[in-house]
Amino acid sequence: MEIAKVGVVGCGLMGHGIAQICAQAGWEVVVRELEQAPLDKGLAKIDKQLARAVERGKLAREDADAIRGRIEPTLEYSDLADCDLVIEAITEDLGAKLEMWRELDGIVKQEAFFATNTSSLAVADQAEATSRAERFLGLHFFNPAQVMPLLEVVRAEETGEQAAQVGFELGEKLRKTTVAARDNRGFVVNRLLVPYMLDAIRAYEQGVGSVEDIDTGMKAGASHPMGPLELADFVGLDTLASIADVMVEAYEEDRFSQPETLRKLVEAGQFGRKSGRGFYDYSGEKPVAVDPRG
Ligand code: 3HC
Repeated sequence: MEIAKVGVVGCGLMGHGIAQICAQAGWEVVVRELEQAPLDKGLAKIDKQLARAVERGKLAREDADAIRGRIEPTLEYSDLADCDLVIEAITEDLGAKLEMWRELDGIVKQEAFFATNTSSLAVADQAEATSRAERFLGLHFFNPAQVMPLLEVVRAEETGEQAAQVGFELGEKLRKTTVAARDNRGFVVNRLLVPYMLDAIRAYEQGVGSVEDIDTGMKAGASHPMGPLELADFVGLDTLASIADVMVEAYEEDRFSQPETLRKLVEAGQFGRKSGRGFYDYSGEKPVAVDPRG
């Protein structure tokens, strides 16, 4: 099936990036949020990215305007009715996702495909809530979606061949590297990356090194673009905590459990970069490492 129009539900950290790259690839995009404020915030980020690309001579002004013109913001699910593919990037809460899919299933044309950008929930659990499990798949993007080259294409048991093909073709059109992943919690990357970040927090708790030492160690010693604690702040400590909870329940292994420091930071509303503080303080010009135990 030819994809002409893509619906994106959620215009937050992941949703705005997914909407932007889909519009850049030439599709008409409808992006839906619950309220006007987060919708405006996501659109402002897209505008900023496009303006930066124009400033740096990477994109012509007319092309940037055309990309922006292909993005239709909305607060109504009904505007997604004629989309060929709907990608959800809402909060990582199974109840909220099921409620959303049930509503969309009755609105979006029956032949359309549905995809979840979940980072840790089972694709199958969401597919079951719809009447189109065969056309339901997982499309897991990485933050920032505009930059990270990977797209995990996840097939649940009932995902049909055609839906999987739509996922791989979408990846090709977005110029992403695709990998096929089984519908296990965390797929490929988070299955490995999440315990790594949690272990870095445990190393910090055990006094293996300071926040800065641990991050510098992994950047300079393993050529990672960000250290694990910096990355945890970037992903969002609340998000990391909720993925950890899902994974520890699924795998029943301690290495997926939340370290005390993570629990405390999240309880204190310190979610990392998005809240202005986590393992680093982001209020100044440059992030400054803090000692969350202090
Ligand atoms: N949104 C859009 N574009 C961004 C961006 C953002 N948030 N941050 C950076 N960019 C773009 C910049 O515009 C720039 O593009 P340009 O070269 O065309 O101008 C390019 O990326 C490089 O940016 P910078 O020079 O400012 O910064 P860096 O070179 O330090 O790169 C980074 C920033 C790409 C974020 C890099 O630090 C990195 O790769 N970090 C690791 C990110 C990572 O591991 N992400 C995966 C997280 S796990 C995940 O998402 C799964 C989820 O389920 C939890």
